[in-house]
Amino acid sequence: MPTPRKILILGATSAIAEQTARVWAKRGDSLYLVARNPQKLAVVAADLKTRGASFVESIVADLDDLDLHPQLLADAITALGGLDIAYLAHGVLGDQAEAEADAIAAEQILHTNFTSPVSLLTWLANFCVKQHSGTLAVISSVAGDRGRKSNYVYGSAKAGLSAFLSGLRNRIDREGVTVTTIKPGPVKTSMTAGMKGSEKFADPAKVGKAIASAIDSKRDQIYVPFQWRVIMAVIRHIPESIFKKTNT
Ligand SMILES: NC(=O)c1ccc[n+]([C@@H]2O[C@H](COP(=O)([O-])OP(=O)(O)OC[C@H]3O[C@@H](n4cnc5c(N)ncnc54)[C@H](OP(=O)(O)O)[C@@H]3O)[C@@H](O)[C@H]2O)c1
Repeated sequence: MPTPRKILILGATSAIAEQTARVWAKRGDSLYLVARNPQKLAVVAADLKTRGASFVESIVADLDDLDLHPQLLADAITALGGLDIAYLAHGVLGDQAEAEADAIAAEQILHTNFTSPVSLLTWLANFCVKQHSGTLAVISSVAGDRGRKSNYVYGSAKAGLSAFLSGLRNRIDREGVTVTTIKPGPVKTSMTAGMKGSEKFADPAKVGKAIASAIDSKRDQIYVPFQWRVIMAVIRHIPESIFKKTNT
C-alpha cells in the first residue's frame, strides 16, 4: 500500500471534487473535507470512508467567510498531521441576469469564485513554502479564457483566479510547491443542471479521475476533457470585432 497522502478538500460536496476524492479514498489517502451543507457533507464523508480512505474528518464552513480561513486551515492541517495536497473546488455560477442589474449580486459571484480562493491560497501558499512541499490544485474554468455574454461575471472571476494561480506558480514553484490550474469545460453537475444541452456535458466521474491523475503528474495546468484545450485556443483567437457579434 502507498503511504497515505494528507489531502484537504475545500468545497468537498462539489460533484467534481467528490469524484476526485473517490480516487484518493480508493488509494487509502487521508482526507479532510470542508463544505457548507452539513447533510450533503455527512453523506460524502461516510461514502469516502467506505471506499477506503484511511482517515476522514469533515467540518462545516461557509468559505465566503474570510475571517474563518486561517483557523480553519490550521485546524485541518493539525487533524491531518501535515499537508500534501489542498484541492479547492468551491464555486458558484451565480445568476448572470441578476448580476447585470445589480452590482452587489455581481460582487457576490466575484467573492465566492475569486476573493475566497485568493484568501485560502495566500495562507496555504505561505504554509507550503515554509515546508518546501505540497500541491495546491484549484478548479478554475474555461469560462475564464474569454468573457461571454452568457456568464461573463462568473467568467471574469475565473479569469482572475487563473491569472492569480499563474503568478503564484511563478513565485512558489521554485520553492518546491506545485500549483495546478484545472480548467473544466461544461460538466454534468448541479451547477449546470437544466442548462441547454446539459445531457451532453462531461461525466463528473471522468473529470474527477482526470484531475486526480493531473495532480499525481504535478501538471501546471489542465483542460478537462482535454479537447477543451483546442476549443479554447480557437475561441481565444476569434477577433474581437467578430466575437462581439456572436451569441454565446
Ligand atoms: N460544472 C461545470 O460545468 C464546471 C465547469 C467549469 C468549472 N467548474 C467549477 O468546478 C468547481 C466545482 O463545481 P461543480 O461543477 O462540481 O458544481 P457543484 O456540484 O455545484 O459544486 C460547487 C460546490 O461549491 C460549494 N460552494 C459554493 N459556495 C460555497 C461557499 N461559500 N462555501 C463552501 N462551499 C461552497 C457548493 O456547496 P453547496 O452544495 O452547499 O452549494 C458545492 O459543493 C467550481 O469551482 C466550478 O466553478 C464547473
